Amino acid sequence: SIVPVILAGGSGTRLWPVSRDSLPKQFQSLHGTNTLYQDTLKRVSDRSLFSAPIVLTHEDFRFFARRQAQDIGIDTTVVLEPTRRDSGPALLAAAMVAQRLAGEGCLVLALAADHVVLDEALFVDACRAAGRAASDGHIVTFGITPTEPSTAYGYIRPGSAAGTSEARKVDAFVEKPDTVTAARYLAEGYLWNSGNFLFPASLLIEEAERFEPAIVAAVREAVELSVEDLGFIRLDAKAFADSPAKSIDYAVMEKTTRAAVVEGKFRWSDIGSWDALRALEPGDAAGNVTHGPVTLLDSTNNYIHTDGPLVATVGVDNLAVVATEDAVLVMPASRSQDVKALVAKLKSDR
Ligand code: GDD
Ligand code: MG
Repeated sequence: SIVPVILAGGSGTRLWPVSRDSLPKQFQSLHGTNTLYQDTLKRVSDRSLFSAPIVLTHEDFRFFARRQAQDIGIDTTVVLEPTRRDSGPALLAAAMVAQRLAGEGCLVLALAADHVVLDEALFVDACRAAGRAASDGHIVTFGITPTEPSTAYGYIRPGSAAGTSEARKVDAFVEKPDTVTAARYLAEGYLWNSGNFLFPASLLIEEAERFEPAIVAAVREAVELSVEDLGFIRLDAKAFADSPAKSIDYAVMEKTTRAAVVEGKFRWSDIGSWDALRALEPGDAAGNVTHGPVTLLDSTNNYIHTDGPLVATVGVDNLAVVATEDAVLVMPASRSQDVKALVAKLKSDR
């Protein structure tokens, strides 16, 4: 069977002020009633295809990770990262823990904990196809048909068939290109990388060893010296801190020749920013999408989210307004990606 690994250690800064360092977006219900993390666990709950999931997260979030899984009746193995080293080291640690639990030859399905997938059955179909291609010796990505030249994604150039009929080889993988390059990729038929991967654990480790031996050495030691604590697996802090910080996209995907892509036919959003979240919902007649107590006069195409305070606007268009108990964000909706820079400024001003 396939071992799902959920990466739930990101900080989700572009959804400030709702997503905070103390409670990042994956542990919140931004779409529907369950949290994004719970939806992710449910997506892989068919135990005839997937084994019990392994969750990788920062130690600060350990009780959210366990509690939210228990609340929906799902058993997990929670592995704790003592420091933030981005998704590369986390995924390698996960691959090694998966080998311990499920055997050297196991397949791993790595999932981001903060995505919305609207067609679960199509998602599972894609996993079956990806599982076949992974068994043929590939690190399989899930490609999404792009709709705009976004700079927030990895881009994949699909090539010839990769052994099985559904998957194609990846001829090029480019992480977060600039807008001009992204526009060219769109015209050339590239796909977005959805940020989920299916691979033989041994193949990911082997490829990482080739390109990033320092990461593999540090992570291997962190796993070997890991201890069990209150049912959590704690990676060794000193060894893990020695790993360079790098996302899996830069560490492995841009460099490997063993990547393949299966097209994801499911509707998908990484809800990385307020405009991505807005795009999931149809607006009202004036194009406004609102959540919470909102009153609008002569205002069009706005996204307004409030966790409590009444928000009222007059004569404004194309804004995103997000109000929480202690902070309010106002910006042109088109500047959604810049919230990351704003949060950096907030931290340095403090
Ligand atoms: N455990 C753990 N530890 N998880 C992490 C860490 C970490 O240090 N850093 C990030 N993650 C998790 C995030 O919570 C998220 O679920 C996933 O790894 C991806 O990290 P992001 O930081 O959200 O990456 P991104 O959105 O900028 O880019 C990735 O996803 C895009 C699609 O959403 C890349 O894979 C892109 O190529 C891809 O297009
Ligand atoms: Mg993301």
